[in-house]
Amino acid sequence: MNSLDLDYQNSKPFITDSEIQSLQPNIDRLHQALEAGTGKGADYLGWMGLSSRTSSEELAAIEQSAKQLRDHCDVFVSIGIGGSYLGARAAISYLSHTFSNQLSSKNSGSPEIHFAGHNLNSDYHADLFDLIADRDVCLNVISKSGTTTEPAVAFRLLKDKLENKYGKEGARKRIVVTTDQTKGALKKLADEEGYTTFVIPDDVGGRYSVLTPVGLLPIAVAGIDIRELMAGAKTGETVCKAHSGLDKNLAYLYAGIRHLMYTKGKTLEVLASFHPSLSYVLEWWKQLAGESEGKEFKGIFPASVEYTTDLHSMGQWVQEGNRILFETFLLVGASRRQLEIPMFDNDGDGLNYLAGKTLDFVNDKAYKGTAMAHKEGEVPNMTLTVKDRSPYALGELFYFFERAIAMTGYLMDVNPFDQPGVEFYKKNMFMLLNKPGYSKG
Ligand code: PA5
Repeated sequence: MNSLDLDYQNSKPFITDSEIQSLQPNIDRLHQALEAGTGKGADYLGWMGLSSRTSSEELAAIEQSAKQLRDHCDVFVSIGIGGSYLGARAAISYLSHTFSNQLSSKNSGSPEIHFAGHNLNSDYHADLFDLIADRDVCLNVISKSGTTTEPAVAFRLLKDKLENKYGKEGARKRIVVTTDQTKGALKKLADEEGYTTFVIPDDVGGRYSVLTPVGLLPIAVAGIDIRELMAGAKTGETVCKAHSGLDKNLAYLYAGIRHLMYTKGKTLEVLASFHPSLSYVLEWWKQLAGESEGKEFKGIFPASVEYTTDLHSMGQWVQEGNRILFETFLLVGASRRQLEIPMFDNDGDGLNYLAGKTLDFVNDKAYKGTAMAHKEGEVPNMTLTVKDRSPYALGELFYFFERAIAMTGYLMDVNPFDQPGVEFYKKNMFMLLNKPGYSKG
């Protein structure tokens, strides 16, 4: 792969090269099952080929709609939850200026981007209404099933605001729907109201959908080049399709290492970053791994930490707590901009020994020191480095994780593409809410 590197030296001797190699026949077999669509959850393998099957015309339609939204709003609200939320948020946070929302009206030319429908909290949504009160607003409501309560409630609230402000006709031009081609309440509503609509393919599940209009439209509204994102994913797709060998397919190597860790009792993976822009990539990964693997009483619990801040909190647990975990450092090869620490005549703070060094240099030493300490503390670890903060590299990273988690799920013999456990809370909530059809008996 062009933009990714995986180093697992710090996992040895907890796992050995020969143990990794012993997985190859099984991985070859499961690769065939993925490629031929003969494994578990085979109806949901559409994500594997999105970067080659999405046409230039489809991307142009998304870009066109994004342009219209950008031209007509100061604030863009993306409404969705889980897989209909996290991918876009991950990409926008990773690729945009850290303070893009605060800078947007001044100089970026992009609208502020906010999210709704990922909680049921009154204060959150009331505060959002304050924020949009005197601004021009557009909405993109995203739900594959079209029936998920959280985004449906948020959409109803925001639609009401827009219709009061712009009238029904004015609001219609500011609302875009992303949902199933035929099914669901949202599809029905979109048809009735005549909203611009994008389709989520049937064969792509929520957490694997960032490279469909689910993720692509909000990402394009943020001014990010979605063709570059798809080009990066295409590199991942091409390599992963052509090779099951652990020497060529990094996603399967990562999957194999995870599997070995799991079989040796390391049932919790900590994904650790040293770059704040990755914070929602960590969240996206947690959903991808957690919903895909956590079933049938199996699964690696996916946790995340953001260093160096969490070295001053969770770092204690990682260093000396219960030895059930392994750690994957997710690094960015280089920051976009370099800052040098200045020399002071008066070395009152004692930092002149770092004068002339960049923050990246210091951060890198923090990472290396942490990786050594955690290995010594019996936390086997590996390091995945993504070259830079470009859409291309992120596209490759998205694809890498999707392939890897699908493969780990198959190695655990679970269906990585369903989420039956998510229904349990809903049944109780609907019963408590007296939703028609959900009785208390
Ligand atoms: O990965 C999944 O399938 C889930 O996390 C869904 O994305 C989430 O529940 C939202 O579902 P929907 O898009 O149907 O509203």
